[in-house]
Amino acid sequence: MKARIAEDYNATAGIYDMRYREEQQLKIGFLLNRVRLRDGDTIIDAGCGTGILLEAASEKAKAWLVGIDSSIGMLREAKRKGIEADLVLGDIEKMPFRDRVADAVFSVSVIQLADDPGQAVSEIRRVTKEGGAIAISYLRKAGIDPPRATGIRAAVHASETMKDIFITGFRED
Ligand SMILES: C[S@@+](CC[C@H](N)C(=O)[O-])C[C@H]1O[C@@H](n2cnc3c(N)ncnc32)[C@H](O)[C@@H]1O
Repeated sequence: MKARIAEDYNATAGIYDMRYREEQQLKIGFLLNRVRLRDGDTIIDAGCGTGILLEAASEKAKAWLVGIDSSIGMLREAKRKGIEADLVLGDIEKMPFRDRVADAVFSVSVIQLADDPGQAVSEIRRVTKEGGAIAISYLRKAGIDPPRATGIRAAVHASETMKDIFITGFRED
């Protein structure tokens, strides 16, 4: 399943921005408006795709930006666009990062693709510092309940105009 998802995104990476950039920018704006980013922060985008969030975040703060995605094609597209971030090929359900490294972790329209969205959220919590921001969205049409992980205090937002459910909050402990 994971290999198939990565192949599908590899095949369509070149047209992703043309198709989805505008839609994703609205979701990303919604999340970025709810998270305060500071210069010097370490920010991870879990399932960064072509780097639309990383680019927007770079305009908000001089942060160390890290994007992880399972599709090499999507990462190549981010690189081709000149996104200034460290780009890592990997799985958001098992990220190759130490515990509590990030001041903020984002994940936009990705966790519904995970084998276990709850595991993806636990992994996002694991790499977030205590008190660090967590900002996730996932496609409403996936029909899943907002995954809950112990140790995250979060609010769930649904918007009439956007296709995602949004979860914003912070790591409690
Ligand atoms: C709908 S796109 C969203 C991309 C980006 N977050 C955005 O807002 O434009 C979903 C992305 O999740 C990635 N993805 C899917 N499953 C993944 C997994 N288990 N680990 C890492 N990335 C994954 C895909 O390769 C794709 O780039």
